[in-house]
Amino acid sequence: MDKLQIEGGIPLKGSIRISGAKNAALPILAGSLLSAGPVTISNSPHLHDVTTMIELLACLGVDVTLNENMQVEVAAKNLSSFRAPYELVKTMRASFLVLGPLLARFGEAEVSLPGGCAIGSRPVDQHLKGLEALGADISVTDGYVRARSNGRLVGCDVHMDLVTVGGTQNLMMAATLASGTTRLFNAACEPETVDLGNFLNALGAKVSGHGTSTIEIEGVDALHGGSHRVMPDRVEAGTYLVAAAVTGGHVHLRDVEPETLGAVLDKLQQAGAEVTVGDDWIALDMAGRRARAVDIETSPYPGFPTDMQAQFMTLNALAEGTATINENIFENRFMHVHEMKRLGADIELHGQSMAVVQGVKELRAAPVMATDLRASSSLVLAALAAVGTTTIDRIYHIDRGYETIEEKLGQMGAKVRRVS
Ligand code: UD1
Repeated sequence: MDKLQIEGGIPLKGSIRISGAKNAALPILAGSLLSAGPVTISNSPHLHDVTTMIELLACLGVDVTLNENMQVEVAAKNLSSFRAPYELVKTMRASFLVLGPLLARFGEAEVSLPGGCAIGSRPVDQHLKGLEALGADISVTDGYVRARSNGRLVGCDVHMDLVTVGGTQNLMMAATLASGTTRLFNAACEPETVDLGNFLNALGAKVSGHGTSTIEIEGVDALHGGSHRVMPDRVEAGTYLVAAAVTGGHVHLRDVEPETLGAVLDKLQQAGAEVTVGDDWIALDMAGRRARAVDIETSPYPGFPTDMQAQFMTLNALAEGTATINENIFENRFMHVHEMKRLGADIELHGQSMAVVQGVKELRAAPVMATDLRASSSLVLAALAAVGTTTIDRIYHIDRGYETIEEKLGQMGAKVRRVS
């Protein structure tokens, strides 16, 4: 199993390009099932999760190829199966996003329940409730959701009980081919949902209001082929900005959308970083200073993203002062805390959703283990700042979400090695 060895204490300095967003590429790939194609997707990141989604499409009978420009070409003409098996869904919850498109276009789908997850139970009740409202007949047996429609789905008003990114995306995709108009209330406003809406519209869908809490989808008879460029990854960008902040460095990120990082940039400035933005770049200069502690409270977009919570735990672990971190989106998303304590962090947990972090002057290297994607990125950041060489085990979690992480860190002067 691969490990990362990181020699800490080097301020990051340099410029890197940010990859396409994993959380936008995954629903967009699932959405390509809505059209017979061909659909061309560019700027898709080379990540394990993207490969898993491509494998899932291939196992449904979709033609997926990578062309010479590293663009993914998808042609979902005739499928050979409408079943997303447990083996694929259990490794990646986003596989559940094929349910809406399969049901909308082919009238049937069988998708494994995602099952337990490291960061909490993560139910799918809102996805199912919405699809039923659109006229689907749904049963859950033997760990599989079986959905059918009697002909076409029928547009309607759907009020979601809570803000769910995946739920919004599944329903948005299902509604594109329904008869009549669907309105999704209390919809997720996350930029990746906006990117999905733009992708669907490029294929001839009629989606409006994406990016607000009410999305309207006027159903069309069919989607045609088309192309789309995946938006930049705001979580990858945020992670490298925090990496610069915790090492007292100065970095410049290219190919980003600064407006998607508002809450994160705000907190970095509060922590004492000098942040400058252009149309498609962000620069952060910490000028060797120690960060000031900043309280964090996660909430749906445009609030502070849960996917950046762990990274700010590292920032606070080394900051001047005490910070409170409230995790409101997922239960059990503090698994990095025990590992960070091994590096010398002073963190107290209060139940499953609150942590109090007392900043220390330095962290010291120790062997640690990655537990989930974002938790593991907080360990990478801690290792970059710690005194000595830290070994991080189980880095397959990191590879799910960060493209060529050791190369990118290396371009900014970090000493990172992948070892088996
Ligand atoms: C997506 C992101 C993930 C991010 C999360 C929140 C992808 C591939 N993943 O995950 O990185 O951390 O949004 O921004 O885009 N819930 C229900 N019932 C449902 C659906 C969700 O109770 O039917 C709950 C979940 O348990 C969770 C909360 O709603 O507590 C938010 O989940 P959701 O927004 O659906 O997250 P994902 O789409 O799985």
